[in-house]
Amino acid sequence: MFKLDRKLIITASTAAAVALFTLGCGGSTGTTESKKASKISIDGGVSYPVVNDKTGPYYVNPQVAQDAPKIYNGRVPTANELKAWNKDIMPDGTGLPEGSGSVEDGEEIYDAKCVMCHGDFGSGGGGYPALSKGNAYDLQKTLTNNRWKDPDADGPTREFGSYWPQASTLFWYIKDGMPHPFSKSLSDDEVYALVAYVLNINEMEIDGVEVDDEYVLDREKFLKIKMPNRNGFEPNIDGPNALPGVRAYYANAKNFGAQNLNQGAVRCMKDCQKASVKTKRINGGITGFLPPMSDVRDLPAVKEVKVDPKEVYKNACAMCHDSYLAPGSDEWAGYVAEGMDTVYAKAIKGTQGGMPAKGGTSLSDANFKTVVDYITTGKVK
Ligand code: HEC
Ligand code: HEC
Repeated sequence: MFKLDRKLIITASTAAAVALFTLGCGGSTGTTESKKASKISIDGGVSYPVVNDKTGPYYVNPQVAQDAPKIYNGRVPTANELKAWNKDIMPDGTGLPEGSGSVEDGEEIYDAKCVMCHGDFGSGGGGYPALSKGNAYDLQKTLTNNRWKDPDADGPTREFGSYWPQASTLFWYIKDGMPHPFSKSLSDDEVYALVAYVLNINEMEIDGVEVDDEYVLDREKFLKIKMPNRNGFEPNIDGPNALPGVRAYYANAKNFGAQNLNQGAVRCMKDCQKASVKTKRINGGITGFLPPMSDVRDLPAVKEVKVDPKEVYKNACAMCHDSYLAPGSDEWAGYVAEGMDTVYAKAIKGTQGGMPAKGGTSLSDANFKTVVDYITTGKVK
């Protein structure tokens, strides 16, 4: 059953899911060797073990459970089912649906469904990628900073606004892969709103118009987005500043690729390692990494006021806990039996079963415990 899950998710071209499973199972697409290697999957800085053949985040994905009888029941998906999953959204507008959404709505959805991982205003942290670091046009210029020549220059900032060449990837990524444990759950209008919000926090403009707080994005406007780094990936082979001979260089396929074919190398796709080659590992190889990957969020500390546990639950826990271990549900009995000190400690530190440290919040221990009290009992003390 898990094999099929993974195949479907990969075929859906979900950048997030592909990256997730590439890390988790060596990039295999669901063959027997992946079964062996699929003990752990990595999400941001947190690693999850596989539970009942599903990784932590997918384990709590009600969408998967809901779809189970239809497409996860152990048969090969039909061509049409795959087609329905595999919706490419291309820079020329192919696959981009009609719809619209405002920055204002986007911010609201972001605060409900994205902020717990991607941080306030997309600041990122704790292994989760930033969706903005500031003004995209200014930051794009940092990509060519040369700190060897100018040690005081800022290092290159690579995030959506400053680095990605195409906006279609953002739409596609959010539509297919986010929010992480609930991929494919957003409507087209919601995705337009979220894209508008991400453009807004990157201080971008479309067709000379600033994407300000009142902006409403639709398909037509979307297609006019010009990303600051759109020319940053391929060399300009025609312009006056083009490298001499670069066109001739690229015209000859032998000139590039992993091996230099001009020097007699042979391209190889299978069993390429010569049997005689032995890999030598010093002291048996590196076994443990130090320091271990952190699952602690590193957002700046904020001055704490007492929080409303119900409000925190709604914004930071409900997305996972509404379907599993909901406030006051009977499912809590087994956890609470271990004693509340253990429950607090585990929830603060995070668990291998899929609970992120403090649920991904940056609350103080005291505040966080009031939310744990609420979630375990369904009552606010
Ligand atoms: C449970 C945590 C979680 C939630 C909630 C979440 N994301 Fe993500 N997001 C991730 C992780 C992890 C990645 C990186 C995935 C990877 O590289 O494999 C990511 C990547 C992204 C990226 C690509 C960023 C880049 O530079 O590579 C975008 C865009 C994004 N998320 C948007 C959203 C939006 C919009 C929402 C809310 C609808 C959302 N995410 C909710 C965890 C989350
Ligand atoms: C990304 C999904 C996710 C989010 C967000 C999340 N949880 Fe959890 N939580 C889980 C899962 C999955 C478990 C079960 C883990 C296990 O059994 O090891 C869990 C377990 C717990 C436990 C029991 C810990 C133990 O082992 O005794 C507590 C308490 C808890 N969550 C509280 C919260 C609170 C409070 C929030 C919000 C501030 C929150 N969670 C947000 C997924 C999540």
